[in-house]
Amino acid sequence: MSTLKLSVGPAPKIITGCNKWHGQTSRFVHWEMHAGDALQVLRQMPDDSYNCAITSPPYYWLRDYGVDGQIGKEETVEEYVNAIVSTMNEVYRVLKPDGVLFLNLGDTYYSGKGESQGIDRKSNKRRFGLRAVDKSGGLGIGIQRKSIIGIPWRVAIKMSANKWVLRCPIIWHREHCLPENVKDRPSRSYEFVFMFVKSRKYYFNRQPLIEKNFDEDVWTIAARPKQANGIDTAPFPDELVQRCLDIGCPKDGSVLDPFAGSGTTMRVALVSGRSATGIELNPDFCEHAVKNLSNL
Ligand SMILES: C[S@@+](CC[C@H](N)C(=O)[O-])C[C@H]1O[C@@H](n2cnc3c(N)ncnc32)[C@H](O)[C@@H]1O
Repeated sequence: MSTLKLSVGPAPKIITGCNKWHGQTSRFVHWEMHAGDALQVLRQMPDDSYNCAITSPPYYWLRDYGVDGQIGKEETVEEYVNAIVSTMNEVYRVLKPDGVLFLNLGDTYYSGKGESQGIDRKSNKRRFGLRAVDKSGGLGIGIQRKSIIGIPWRVAIKMSANKWVLRCPIIWHREHCLPENVKDRPSRSYEFVFMFVKSRKYYFNRQPLIEKNFDEDVWTIAARPKQANGIDTAPFPDELVQRCLDIGCPKDGSVLDPFAGSGTTMRVALVSGRSATGIELNPDFCEHAVKNLSNL
């Protein structure tokens, strides 16, 4: 159990024994943060609870979040896809019937080049050991070395084959993002934000897209610079969350992020007057998020 001592803001209550914090903003908007595995925590939550979920799960073999049980380091693509889909199926259950899910996913290449011989201390592979996507011999999904795996669509297709309705694959064009260190293909500058719903009738407000003259399904939003606070969760930009909220969540709605990281979704939701619930496996990230939320 984490213990938190906070010197600023209204002190959040800590519910002993279940790694959960909760509090409210100065405008009395409620939040709660659960430390733990997303799938396990979601299983404890009641049906039909949230208006909207906005989340960015760990990508496949791109980052080490330093905790046992983290998603993203599975040996096979199938295991990774299943881990995300199982978690999203619990999100389905806890979303209200007219609820909306925005799922941000990025892709990974299969390099198949084997063990690194270099001494680059910054190399992801050194931090990870030998990544599944660098092992020679194929990934078991019939793709060649140097192929992009197609992770977002593999997840999206499996979710739609179950019960989710995929309403829109939104492209997040990551404006001004650093170019990748590649010479034999274009550098990538976009990711997907899949808009999923549960039923044929759901909450959707198109007006903000029209009023602000935004491209409707290509969102050009600058990627967030690396934080100087020692917490590196690969946070998504506030503006991305705000746009999802504007179109997919009632003004007084409730918002869920099962991979909360530093708590961007929760913070932006709370500032906009919506209640927020987060789940995060890394206890340091939880404490960081709780500290921030306590100051709102
Ligand atoms: C891409 S980051 C989310 C960043 C977040 N959107 C933000 O703005 O900070 C993914 C998060 O999922 C967490 N995570 C990994 N495996 C998890 C699991 N099984 N259950 C819950 N959280 C997990 C990681 O620790 C990481 O903080």
